[in-house]
Amino acid sequence: MGVRSSRPPVPGGNRLRQAAGDGARGSGAAAAGGSIQSLAGEPKGEAEGPLKSIAPVAAAGRRAQEPAAAPAAGSTQPPLSEPVRGDAGPSGCRGAGGPVAGRRREPGPRDEAGAGTGVVILGSTGSIGRQAADVIARMPGRLRAVGLAAGRDGARLLEQVRRLKPEVVALEDPEAGRRWKPVLEREGVRVLVGPGSAEVLATWPGARRVLSAITGAAGLRPTLAALEAGRDVALANKESLVAAGDLVTRVAAARGVRLLPVDSEHSALFQCLQGRRAEEVERLILTASGGPFRGWSREALARVTPAEAVRHPNWSMGAKISVDSATLMNKGLEVIEAHWLFGLPAERIAVVVHPQSIVHGLVELVDGATVAVLARPDMRQPIQYALCYPERGPRLVERLDLAAAGMLTFEEPDTGTFPCLALAYQALQAGGTAPAVLNAANEEAVAAFLAGKLPFPGIAETVAAVLDRHRPRPVTGLDDVLEADAWARAEARALLAGAWEAGRAE
Ligand SMILES: NC(=O)c1ccc[n+]([C@@H]2O[C@H](COP(=O)([O-])OP(=O)(O)OC[C@H]3O[C@@H](n4cnc5c(N)ncnc54)[C@H](OP(=O)(O)O)[C@@H]3O)[C@@H](O)[C@H]2O)c1
Repeated sequence: MGVRSSRPPVPGGNRLRQAAGDGARGSGAAAAGGSIQSLAGEPKGEAEGPLKSIAPVAAAGRRAQEPAAAPAAGSTQPPLSEPVRGDAGPSGCRGAGGPVAGRRREPGPRDEAGAGTGVVILGSTGSIGRQAADVIARMPGRLRAVGLAAGRDGARLLEQVRRLKPEVVALEDPEAGRRWKPVLEREGVRVLVGPGSAEVLATWPGARRVLSAITGAAGLRPTLAALEAGRDVALANKESLVAAGDLVTRVAAARGVRLLPVDSEHSALFQCLQGRRAEEVERLILTASGGPFRGWSREALARVTPAEAVRHPNWSMGAKISVDSATLMNKGLEVIEAHWLFGLPAERIAVVVHPQSIVHGLVELVDGATVAVLARPDMRQPIQYALCYPERGPRLVERLDLAAAGMLTFEEPDTGTFPCLALAYQALQAGGTAPAVLNAANEEAVAAFLAGKLPFPGIAETVAAVLDRHRPRPVTGLDDVLEADAWARAEARALLAGAWEAGRAE
């Protein structure tokens, strides 16, 4: 079995060009860093108040319909810990357990009482959220659900309330909230309703860890709110790091809290990096399944349906990430996510296609050794690791039987047929607002595809065209990200509307 890792084309310069297949590589100014850095810094006391750059986030937390329920951001924080070992900073994983891993936070009172670590799940009714709920339910005494936030699926939320007995739940969608609030309240749970309620839950007292598993850029504000309030964040919502990686990692550093990867590839890299020093690491390698259309021609891709695109060969996931997997945009987003989590530049983060999804991530060391994490494709393992870190929980997943798995194969990604991976590298190299634009344009294009209004190859074409029109600007705060996001959505919608018009005219 040989791993030939790829370096997809990453043309440089601030001006993004339509990407597919361009083989040049750029200067990578935005991705500079060169070595694994630490987000360490001394944790800041709560008395300092919200960081200026994300003040709107803290304010937004008060917009929910039940303002009285909103705790003052960070008001219930336990004191941040002092280092507990002399070897602070072992993992070399910035924001995800570098020097922050050498610190320990005082256990909360309910932890001391043996009730387990309090967890809030944002996006509890989704694919990740449901698996997280299962992990929590199967670890009584170790983990405990404090709050569950959903979009609109009140029926599933009700089931989860009955199983997990949280203190509080949130439904972001006002209509679903109106319908389900009385039903949920009969279960004795507090119910928040309306836009911003997930953000309120992200800062809820009694929870030490927040699982961020809302889909898309909608997860950004709640993620920032949780970090700002001093919660460790188990991060599934990669889009928040893609759109605002600099901001998110800065807030985590300033608050002295952890960003713990949930994505299986990043969890694998994180596990491989435990105990390593930055200078030992040469490259990170993310594996990609290749999605349901691996090996297909461009012509064949033009005919795929949404139902085919969401049918992933190895993973059962939400619709958006399944389509991202099929276009390889998911792997592109993950490259950007890895850059922000581990502090390596684009040219030291590679992708290899591994259709069996057994090897999840590899770290190439300077002496030529490569370490990897292998596991059956089951998200409950990385979710559990992020919720329990630095401890390990009991086995909840099936044992990996390598003999039964048989052959493990590896190949280069086909960035000619699937240009989204290369587009993501370009956006990372361009830096500033470019990744936020990539992400927003992709969300719009995927939604149009799922609605049957755009052919599959149109996703990459739309993203490339929007990126091509964008002049990246530096990100100094949340407003820059939101502005870029809104601009990209408007551009994408205009392009998509034009495409529909043209389609009708034919
Ligand atoms: N699924 C995986 O295996 C996997 C693996 C790695 C990373 N991820 C990442 O994890 C995130 C979630 O993925 P998923 O597959 O679990 O997605 P999903 O199945 O579509 O679930 C999304 C969740 O977010 C909620 N939601 C959507 N919009 C919301 C909003 N505006 N406010 C509050 N809640 C909202 C949904 O609520 P309702 O359903 O109640 O409307 C649902 O609970 C994504 O960022 C994805 O990239 C997923």
